[in-house]
Amino acid sequence: MTSTQATRTVLVTGATGFIGSHTCVDLLAAGHRVIGVDNFLNSSPRVLDRIGRIADRELDFVRLDVRDRAALDELFRRQPIDAVVHFAARKAVGESVEMPLAYYDSNVGATLGLLHVMGEHGVRDLVFSSSCAIHGTVDKVPIAEDAPVRPTNPYSRTKWICEQILADLCVADPRWHITSLRYFNPVGAHPSGLLGEDPRGVPNNVMPYIAQVAVGRRAELSVFGDDYPTPDGTGVRDYIHVVDLAHGHRLALGHLRDVAGHRVINLGTGQGTSVLELLAAFSAACGRELPRRIMARRAGDVAALVADPTLAREALGWTARHDVAQMCRDAWEFQRLNPTGYDDEGA
Ligand SMILES: NC(=O)c1ccc[n+]([C@@H]2O[C@H](COP(=O)([O-])OP(=O)(O)OC[C@H]3O[C@@H](n4cnc5c(N)ncnc54)[C@H](O)[C@@H]3O)[C@@H](O)[C@H]2O)c1
Repeated sequence: MTSTQATRTVLVTGATGFIGSHTCVDLLAAGHRVIGVDNFLNSSPRVLDRIGRIADRELDFVRLDVRDRAALDELFRRQPIDAVVHFAARKAVGESVEMPLAYYDSNVGATLGLLHVMGEHGVRDLVFSSSCAIHGTVDKVPIAEDAPVRPTNPYSRTKWICEQILADLCVADPRWHITSLRYFNPVGAHPSGLLGEDPRGVPNNVMPYIAQVAVGRRAELSVFGDDYPTPDGTGVRDYIHVVDLAHGHRLALGHLRDVAGHRVINLGTGQGTSVLELLAAFSAACGRELPRRIMARRAGDVAALVADPTLAREALGWTARHDVAQMCRDAWEFQRLNPTGYDDEGA
């Protein structure tokens, strides 16, 4: 068996969230034992049953707050854990400006606590959720891992601070193996329609907003700015299917020991899609023209963010398999079957 095939017991924090739930499915399907934890701050307990239905295997689950070091310690004491994938965090940029302490507490404080507990129990293999948002305004695309980092809000600063903590830790103690994956724009849903993105309140991101327009929960999409220096004037992003992203985590786990220390890897497709192109693709997926209104640019938005995914291909053997049309079809299927998200009996 190669290192990428070995079966391990993996602790997944934020297991019932959007990306965590898809990653649990992927890891279970590959034969790993998965222990999920979440406090349901931004997710539903209904996700647990759905993960089990898709993977046809149970996820071991413990409800806990990752800021609770004693609870984590107890978990590591009771369970043999080989590696950790750390998703649990707060992720809304606007909210992070309004409540920075909650963001530093949940995203940085919890990560510190987790690292302490892992170290005490001799578990030093970690995959960490980072974000392309740490780059802020970029001078050029595509964005490689060594592009300048200029976080522009508390949320992205928490991710950058965590990356630096992880790098320092690996320098101090070479027994650690850590990969920070910088995601571009995760969208889509599991093709079964059972798992998807179900944001609380008004969606911060364009794709779930479009999906809610399509299902009749919102009147129209507000397109913030059509005068950017992009082909149609609207913002360009690198959308990545959440199933591809989940697969990237499994590969990152398998390749953790390939190199010493901390490494950073982009997960993106390398393809840019404008807001109007995304809206057209979603309209095609749901079979009707979706209404939109052009608005002024939104403060803090940038023209284009597109990944250079070369390192992911070389280091992990990972490339994105799903295109934007598939992302829209799967997101629409989830929204159609679950019009008000996991609150529905739905799928
Ligand atoms: N979705 C994106 O656009 C995106 C982009 C880049 C990076 N990320 C990062 O990826 C990770 C997962 O994002 P997601 O989109 O799945 O978000 P999500 O909100 O759907 O999932 C996060 C999960 O963590 C849980 N959680 C939050 N705080 C917790 C705590 N203190 N204790 C236990 N559980 C807690 C939430 O209940 C939720 O289930 C996050 O770290 C996020 O910052 C997301």
